[in-house]
Amino acid sequence: MGKLSITVDGLKFKNPFVIGSGPPSTNAKIMCKAFAAGWGGVVAKTTSLTDTEVHNVQPRYGKLRSKSKDNVGFQNIELISDATFEDWEDWYKETKDTHPDGILIGSIMESYDKGRWQELAARCEASGCDALELNFSCPHGHPEKGMGAAMGQDPERVQEVTRWVVDAVNIPVWSKMTPNITDITVPALAAQAGGAHGVSAINTILACIGINLKTLKPQPTVEGHSTFGGYSYLAVKPIALRMVAEIAQAAPNLSISGIGGVTCAADAIEHMLVGARTVQSCTGPMLQGFGMVTELIEGTEAFMDEHGFQSLEEVIGKSLPYFTTHHHLVELQAAKRAARAAAKAEANTVNKDTDWGKSDIQDQTKNLVSNE
Ligand SMILES: Cc1cc2nc3c(=O)[nH]c(=O)nc-3n(C[C@H](O)[C@H](O)[C@H](O)COP(=O)(O)O)c2cc1C
Repeated sequence: MGKLSITVDGLKFKNPFVIGSGPPSTNAKIMCKAFAAGWGGVVAKTTSLTDTEVHNVQPRYGKLRSKSKDNVGFQNIELISDATFEDWEDWYKETKDTHPDGILIGSIMESYDKGRWQELAARCEASGCDALELNFSCPHGHPEKGMGAAMGQDPERVQEVTRWVVDAVNIPVWSKMTPNITDITVPALAAQAGGAHGVSAINTILACIGINLKTLKPQPTVEGHSTFGGYSYLAVKPIALRMVAEIAQAAPNLSISGIGGVTCAADAIEHMLVGARTVQSCTGPMLQGFGMVTELIEGTEAFMDEHGFQSLEEVIGKSLPYFTTHHHLVELQAAKRAARAAAKAEANTVNKDTDWGKSDIQDQTKNLVSNE
């Protein structure tokens, strides 16, 4: 195992870079491509039992571009996998047989029904999944039916459903958090109380990517209409970093898989510095290709060499101690100003002839004048 290897909840990742649930993990062929390119893990596209209806629309994506035409944000109104769960059982087995060292994480979502969650979880484990990610976070389509983010916004349900799954399997369970909530530490702590080994944060942010100024229709436009969708890619990174840091501070013993806006090694390192033990990217490989993992690996190794870090354990959470309250920043600044003023006053004081020259001669003279 190399410098980037890391053990998370007992799982040995050859590197911390994981494909996030979505199109880059939507069948066996594409998951195998990801592992072949060098990714340490793959979270499969979310699936549910076969009788769950999934009807996708086209188009279903939209881009946000900067003035210089770079892609900065991405929005989707895609649902979970439209394949049968029986296909998924074959795909997990095929992927694991082809890449036994790759960490394969099944992603599942169901309605509020203990039997359905437990059946899905147990069948994923039996098909070779190394861990499970519970999708409490899909922001569009499914919440209308009480699934996804609708469940993730209800901490009691997060705790209860996590417990159902933890009780049904012998593999690690990560609950995936929705950012569409005021305080993400509440569902994260609920997941921990339900027995989750870790949490994944964040899923997409509910958004409107733009309006077509010719047609006046919101995008992506489907038969003249649209619906709010999930926002991802570089533009969401600042929000993801804040939420990962908040969870890391509130739940130091919970493993975190950081997601949101990872486009290069620097983005991934930032996620780890605020507490992520693995880092996922979904829109990154969609827009940049699976080969982006080469730069993730090389860039992270170069960063570790530059700072003399021997293992990722030394990187994870390293920046957390530097977050504080605004009130504390004001106090720190006042203390620094006071220390500077005291040092200046000390330098201007002339008690002995050897003190002359410690600061400006005019200031020292002024200090000795009684009627200044
Ligand atoms: C087209 C698309 C489909 C997605 N489908 C799923 C999904 O099925 N299950 C899930 O948990 N997250 C899904 N996501 C969310 C991603 O896994 C990830 O949490 C989010 O996009 C933020 O990461 P990113 O900026 O690296 O894309 C999807 C994202 C995109 C862009």
